[in-house]
Amino acid sequence: MSDQTRTTATEQSTATTGENLMTMIDTEPLPDRDAVPAALYRLQGVTRTYTQKGRVVKALAGVDLTIDAGEFVTIQGPTGGGKSTLLQLLGALDRPSTGAVHLGDIDLARAGNRELGRIRAHEIGFVFQGFNLIPTLTAHENVDMALEPLGLGAAERRARVGEALARVGLAERADHRPGELSGGQQQRVAIARAIVKRPRVLLADEPTGNLDESMRDEILAVLQALGEEGLTLIVVTHDSAVARRARRRLRLDKGTGRDITR
Ligand SMILES: Nc1ncnc2c1ncn2[C@@H]1O[C@H](COP(=O)(O)OP(=O)(O)OP(=O)(O)O)[C@@H](O)[C@H]1O
Ligand SMILES: [Mg+2]
Repeated sequence: MSDQTRTTATEQSTATTGENLMTMIDTEPLPDRDAVPAALYRLQGVTRTYTQKGRVVKALAGVDLTIDAGEFVTIQGPTGGGKSTLLQLLGALDRPSTGAVHLGDIDLARAGNRELGRIRAHEIGFVFQGFNLIPTLTAHENVDMALEPLGLGAAERRARVGEALARVGLAERADHRPGELSGGQQQRVAIARAIVKRPRVLLADEPTGNLDESMRDEILAVLQALGEEGLTLIVVTHDSAVARRARRRLRLDKGTGRDITR
């Protein structure tokens, strides 16, 4: 029986009579809740099929996956293997063709557009290979943009942006525009923008793909520090130096996934 099933069984038992509950406690002690890892994502039978000009591409061919809160997971695999497709499903940017994508209690496959939008705004931090910063805005303004949907006051926003830039080591560069920053620094601004909302998970698609080795190490150090603080990290990468830092490594090939950690 999985930990997940055990928790559910215990929760159900609390709905039974007091007498039944006592018997339950006598014979089977309640599990230590802290010892049960909380599943952040649960994917079951996930497929994603694209149809373009009559041609059908099965980008994901049946993925089952559980990711616990606080894990640092990398996803590797050949080009076209389905990595970005999977990340978009995890990021509530897309829905599967079939199957379930649970983020906590919510199945993203069944959630409406408004709900997906709320989840993207509040719960998911996304980092892309190409940084996607707005060139006319300063680092501070780029990060601040992510707080727009949260309805915070000006002072709270300023404090949060300052904190996020400090966490990626860019407190001194808040007034710089992207063109006045190195590639590694631009990607750190993009990470600050992703974490400023205090998301449940940081998703990154090839975050070091446009960077040379020293800048890659800069980004790796930032990601690793965030992971050590307890943030869940899911990183798509072609770079084995990045994957080596993760405690769990997945591989996606032809839309099928497997764990290659050991
Ligand atoms: N919007 C789309 N319309 C049609 N086909 C798509 C679309 N997006 C992805 N595909 C196809 O789905 C498959 C998986 O693509 P995906 O982008 O997930 O691969 P990937 O593993 O991220 O590859 P890469 O390493 O090159 O980024 C590919 O065959 C791709 O051509
Ligand atoms: Mg991709």
